Amino acid sequence: MAGSTYGTIFKITTWGESHGTALGVVIDGCPAGLSLCEDDIQIFLDRRKPGQNKYSTPRKENDTVKILSGVFDGKTTGTPISLLVENTSARSQDYSQIASCYRPGHADYTFDAKYGFRDYRGGGRSSGRETIGRVAAGAIAVKLLNELGICFTTFTRSIGPVCISEENFDSSLITKTPTCMPDLAANNHAEEYLKSCMEAQDSCGGVIECQVTGIPAGLGDPVFEKLDANLAKALVSIGSVKAFEIGEGVNVTNLKGSENNDSFYNNDGVIQKRTNHSGGTLGGISDGSTLIMRAHIKPTPSIFTSQETVDKEGNEVTINIKGRHDPVIVPRAVVVVESMAALTILDALLLNMTSKMDSVINFYNN
Ligand SMILES: Cc1cc2nc3c(=O)[nH]c(=O)nc-3n(C[C@H](O)[C@H](O)[C@H](O)COP(=O)(O)O)c2cc1C
Repeated sequence: MAGSTYGTIFKITTWGESHGTALGVVIDGCPAGLSLCEDDIQIFLDRRKPGQNKYSTPRKENDTVKILSGVFDGKTTGTPISLLVENTSARSQDYSQIASCYRPGHADYTFDAKYGFRDYRGGGRSSGRETIGRVAAGAIAVKLLNELGICFTTFTRSIGPVCISEENFDSSLITKTPTCMPDLAANNHAEEYLKSCMEAQDSCGGVIECQVTGIPAGLGDPVFEKLDANLAKALVSIGSVKAFEIGEGVNVTNLKGSENNDSFYNNDGVIQKRTNHSGGTLGGISDGSTLIMRAHIKPTPSIFTSQETVDKEGNEVTINIKGRHDPVIVPRAVVVVESMAALTILDALLLNMTSKMDSVINFYNN
């Protein structure tokens, strides 16, 4: 299977299946000298861990990370960092039915069409557990970016029809509410909506927003490596993300130029914008304002109501899915979105170091 590697300088390769022995990631290109221990990574993995509340899959996994290489005396050595998380709670018998039938909305049919053979246990490589490697690598990227004053606020903006309100926004709630909503009233409504979905043996989707402050102007390239284009790819590469927005996003079609343009002004020698409809990029290059992006997540495909499908031989059958599934993916994917954004921004930042002759001279002459 090609396509498991992401990034140009800060490069990651994720590996492993939902019900295999373990999952993990190899990170190549992390600069030497970054302080790093397992706890730095575990905090991130704990944010996506299953079984933490009634709106997440009941699969119980500790998702404990082991650093196998690339760190010595508490610091990165500049060599490949290999991280491993063991699977301890696989129940593969729950998936015997999908060995021969295709779940509507999932990747079973397309994997068979492509490879003619697949690890169906827990969805194999198409499982949400693949994101463990992304999040473990993302923790390192965020740690490095934090040292440069680049900070992330990532939260649930909506679940089904329930959206947070700006007036109630309290970022301290993101890690406290089961929905990861920074608004208690919206969280309570979303919980009611989720309960009704679960009673009907159904699932729902929602929107995750990631805001990034402290980004200098100049990251990203003007044509095929636009920062917003690369962020879109990073976020849409997460299973279940179906749309990406930056700044005003799809709402730009409702605005006039005079409403959508962000006026510049000179703030004591620093060029700034009075508004941020652009969401922090212009012409594919960061403009120094807060990056604001959103990932739109579909309802969890594995639902427990009976569904029409076909088996491998093409016979029409009714499928009743078993196994343990998230009734909503959104809260668990918040840290996945943050991780993919961080990996993309860090790579753009490292690539940008050679964009100007001055930077090259400064590096070698100092
Ligand atoms: C963190 C996370 C958890 C997920 N949990 C489930 C799940 O419990 N059940 C399920 O059917 N899909 C789950 N998914 C979604 C599937 O992986 C995804 O829908 C599937 O691979 C098909 O890909 P697509 O939706 O991008 O077309 C999860 C995804 C993520 C990112």
